[in-house]
Amino acid sequence: MFYFGVDYYPEHWPEERWPEDARLMAEAGFNVVRLAEFAWSKLEPRQGEYDFAWLDRAIALLHERGIRVILGTPTASPPPWLMAGHPDIFRVGEDGRRVTFGNRREYCPNHPVYHEYTRHIVTRMAAHYADHPAVIGWQIDNELGDRCYCPLCARAFQDWLRRRYGSLDVLNQRWGTTFWSHVYTDWEQIPLPLATGGSPNPGLALDFFRFSSDSTVAYQQLQVDILRQRCPRHVITHNFMGFRYDRINYFDLARPLDVVAWDNYPRTQWAMQAGVDPSQMALAADTMRGLKGRNFWVMEQQAGSGGWEIVSVPPRPGELRLWAYQAIAHGADAILFFRWRTARWGTEQYWHGLLDHDGHPGRRYQEIKGMGAEIRRVGEHIAGAVVKAAVAIILSYDSRFAFQVQANNPEFNYPEHLQQIYRAFHCRHVPLDIVAPDAGLSNYRLVVAPALHIVSEAIAENLKRFVQAGGVLVVTPRSGVKDESNTVVNERLPGLLARLCGVQVEEYDSLPPGASRPLAFAVPELTAVGSPRARVWCDILSPAGAEVVARYGSDYYAGKAAITRHRFGKGWAVYVGTVGDAPLYEALAGWLLGLAGVSPCLGAPREVEVTERWQGQQRLLFLLNHSEQEQTVALDGHYTDMLSGARAPTGSLALAPRDIRVLMSIP
Ligand code: GLA
Ligand code: ZN
Repeated sequence: MFYFGVDYYPEHWPEERWPEDARLMAEAGFNVVRLAEFAWSKLEPRQGEYDFAWLDRAIALLHERGIRVILGTPTASPPPWLMAGHPDIFRVGEDGRRVTFGNRREYCPNHPVYHEYTRHIVTRMAAHYADHPAVIGWQIDNELGDRCYCPLCARAFQDWLRRRYGSLDVLNQRWGTTFWSHVYTDWEQIPLPLATGGSPNPGLALDFFRFSSDSTVAYQQLQVDILRQRCPRHVITHNFMGFRYDRINYFDLARPLDVVAWDNYPRTQWAMQAGVDPSQMALAADTMRGLKGRNFWVMEQQAGSGGWEIVSVPPRPGELRLWAYQAIAHGADAILFFRWRTARWGTEQYWHGLLDHDGHPGRRYQEIKGMGAEIRRVGEHIAGAVVKAAVAIILSYDSRFAFQVQANNPEFNYPEHLQQIYRAFHCRHVPLDIVAPDAGLSNYRLVVAPALHIVSEAIAENLKRFVQAGGVLVVTPRSGVKDESNTVVNERLPGLLARLCGVQVEEYDSLPPGASRPLAFAVPELTAVGSPRARVWCDILSPAGAEVVARYGSDYYAGKAAITRHRFGKGWAVYVGTVGDAPLYEALAGWLLGLAGVSPCLGAPREVEVTERWQGQQRLLFLLNHSEQEQTVALDGHYTDMLSGARAPTGSLALAPRDIRVLMSIP
């Protein structure tokens, strides 16, 4: 079943309006609605006094129209009566100051009293809706996140460390606490890495970030357990914040859920650009699919201008549909637009829904209604169809957290580094998976490990096995630098990956902002368009078995190796010792795909995104024109145009600006 729907807040509108909303939703082709995820003060107006009657009535109206319901647990926005009585539930920030009431997500995830309140409201809701015929599942909380630095978390952190290290001797040794006389003689002496403490011990800081992530994962688990027990038939999910959010190990957060849901906002008040970069949404979508290695849902798909104080650039005509199909092209089996109608009050007054403040169905509603008619035709063919990728990029939350502690260079940005590499493959129409460092890699031919800073023995073995068996592995600078305690390794870099890569880092140059060094390719198959340059960081390499692929062209290391490749078992380990620019990654992507024997879905102009999903043996090809010009795509065979039902032209196909096609191959 393909779910197509909207996030709805009936509690924001007079009840007389609800039937009209339900009618308009059904007309738009919606078959699912998310409800109640911020409605705690309406569901439990006073402690222990529950009122589900209004929600029952709203659900009944939707149900009559054949619309199903996903319920949110309302714990992201505890009501004033709860918080006023327990001021120590409020989270404490890195600056040591307690958050005050007035926003949402104000709670400490480790607070036992908050756990109690959570248990009560979730149990009540679960019991009330377990057998409701319209309800299909639950979204836990909303966009979990934020680190808490309160005294309670300090104690919980100390307990977490006790479980991790067993003894203080081990902890002291791993963190190297002899440095600056930090040798702990009692667990209770161990501080939180508060800003007031200045630059913390890297081992302590990384462990605290892991602990914070675990705390949120555990808070989610508390709710998962209740819902699993009370509502065994229901789907349990949570709405994740794509690739950009970096405070939680999303692989861990995804594990206990049935499906990952994603909130996709290409145009927000925080990024007021004229255009959007489709590869950013693509990477976010692939990350969401990668968390469980299976299709995902979009719980919040942009429906209009985003905005709190500022109003974002509104989605241009065709963009809402284009972005929704893009998510589908990357493996979404559900799209819900956020939100139904633009709120007249509250912080998100300018976060536009499909309907404007006045409830009038205008341009955006009509666009999505048109898409609803298409989904009615093709949804069933698409739902469950899988993405198959031969290329994977490793996303390491340990490394990401470690770079939050020490960026290494002011211009080095781990997520941006991943994005840059991703973009070079994505614009060549090659499907990508995003995987954890310990993921099974045998299905891939090419794996990129960007800045894999923290490398354990097990991770190094995983990569070796992959190359041994014939895979092509790409490692980029600052990989293999640290062990799991965020301690620098005791050998030549890239540490545990040095033998695999057949290379040693003699020394490195951390470049000042804006500086770059020319690069010259040393293998004939590698040809540059433009002149690739090294930026940010230059590892000066000395091959130990590897062949030189590129050399630096200036400074005291002119002529020294910058990129190498090494035969290892049946595969290749490629070491890219610098953070390059777009011409470097574009040239490398082409060369690496050749080395690994991976071909694109289809040759097409770079403005047209091409992806594929497979329904068994049936290939579904998605063409998305992200540009403002008509584009021509040369097809490689016979296809049915699934949206029109007609046969697609053989040869070339014209795609209007922001238009899309879903094609099914005819064998
Ligand atoms: C997030 C939240 C929504 C809403 C939107 C718009 O994604 O999940 O509740 O706040 O952003 O700001
Ligand atoms: Zn806390």
